[in-house]
Amino acid sequence: MAEIGKDIFKARDMLEKGEVIGIPTETVYGLAANALNENAVVSIFKIKERPFFDPLIIHLPSIQSVEKYAELSDARLLKLARAIWPGPLTLVLQKKEIIPDIVTSGLPNVAVRIPNHTLSLELLKNIDFPLAAPSANPFGYVSPTEARHVNRQLGDKIRYILDGGACEVGLESTIVGVEEDSVCVYRLGGLAIESIEQLIGKVEIRVNQSSNPKAPGQLKNHYSPHKPLYIGNIENLLKERKETKVAILHFGEKEYRNHLAFNLSKRGDLDEAAIHLFKYLRLADESEAEIVICEWLPEQGLGRAINDRLKRASAQNQ
Ligand code: TXA
Ligand code: MG
Repeated sequence: MAEIGKDIFKARDMLEKGEVIGIPTETVYGLAANALNENAVVSIFKIKERPFFDPLIIHLPSIQSVEKYAELSDARLLKLARAIWPGPLTLVLQKKEIIPDIVTSGLPNVAVRIPNHTLSLELLKNIDFPLAAPSANPFGYVSPTEARHVNRQLGDKIRYILDGGACEVGLESTIVGVEEDSVCVYRLGGLAIESIEQLIGKVEIRVNQSSNPKAPGQLKNHYSPHKPLYIGNIENLLKERKETKVAILHFGEKEYRNHLAFNLSKRGDLDEAAIHLFKYLRLADESEAEIVICEWLPEQGLGRAINDRLKRASAQNQ
């Protein structure tokens, strides 16, 4: 098992030696290494069992520091960056020479973000390289929102996890870039589309559903618990399914007293549901239930990103 602690200088020393460690962010925990050290980046892919064609996000402490690694010249993206960073926004930008190809899987663009987490920002300010960090879960599984989630799954492969408590957003960052002069959203995430459009007007949603996506975070079957997950009307699903041990993920006032039930938000708050989603998917997965059933959330605010994750998590059963 890895050590869990709050020592950013220990974290810094390990990163400087090319080690991979767990770090907190406001979205989900990351599996971090020096983005400029190719061997360290290779270790991330190995630990996560992630295919090398799936590029990584680099994490930086400030907008000024972005300039050294990427071209942040588009006025709309710059406006988003200034308004949202540090925050749950990742920008896909033209990369500069200094970023190794292994980080971007050979793409001319690099994904960049400034995380909104005190401990990780402190750490980033104390190192002179960006941190490449995918979510700290085995490839394809649910992202971790607590240090112990990371330890349970990857604790035998890393030595240290920086403990920043439970993630305040709970969903991965929203990924935004520019294509043929249109601003495009490539991944729905912890920053709602409404918040983006308020700042820069209409954007195109290009969230891929195919099995041959540009970015594997867009894979049809991703973010999956090990148990089969079915989405729809909960009463109907309870009648239709023959399995007796069922875990229910639901939203709002209704209660399901005769079942193992996880309420994403009793008061119907989508931000609260986002914070709970991955934790409850894990608990359902670790429970005695044979299947997980859940309902769609309202398609607004973070509800869209939550529904996107549920759809992918259930993809093998459709
Ligand atoms: O909230 C987050 O973004 C978390 C925390 C740790 O920062 N990180 C995260 O990383 O979710 P990861 O690797 O699990 O997901 C990153 C997504 C992947 O789907 C990847 O394909 C896409 O970003 N991506 C990375 N670089 C890209 C690029 N140059 N162009 C398009 N997509 C890119
Ligand atoms: Mg991920």
